[in-house]
Amino acid sequence: MISRKMEAALNEQINAELYSSYLYLSMAAYFESKSLDGMAKWMGIQADEEREHAMRIYKHLVDRGGRVTLKEIAAPPAEWKSPQAVFEAVLEHEKKVTGMIHKLADLAASEKDHAASSMLKWFIDEQVEEEATAARIVEHFRMLGDSRGGLLMLDRELGERGEK
Ligand code: FEO
Repeated sequence: MISRKMEAALNEQINAELYSSYLYLSMAAYFESKSLDGMAKWMGIQADEEREHAMRIYKHLVDRGGRVTLKEIAAPPAEWKSPQAVFEAVLEHEKKVTGMIHKLADLAASEKDHAASSMLKWFIDEQVEEEATAARIVEHFRMLGDSRGGLLMLDRELGERGEK
């Protein structure tokens, strides 16, 4: 059985993951509006992955006899000043999520909740990947500067996500 404190903290994280999904779907819609179809696709896949993250925690709570309670999901932004700004926002958001996951891992350790610690280990590793991927894309944007051709090339590259 999971403690009430851990249960509440994991419910908060479910909400944060669902917000991430909502945020990335909003970013996908932004790219659709700019005809950057590859980036829209990349963000759509990212949004799906965030829902899967929420479901991992959901399942953990259910399996441990905890209660899943869903809360309101805040509205994400709808506009950004440029495609590059969107990916910079992704990187900042993922850094924030990493901080949340680390806090949860600290809580699990202090509660000696080994099952939650084990589940959270997957998220700790995943966050390293998430930040590295976003940082790499931001770096590519910096390299291409104002090049429209470069932007279209990057759009094509990001559109290949899920096809390799
Ligand atoms: Fe669920 Fe992008 O971290």
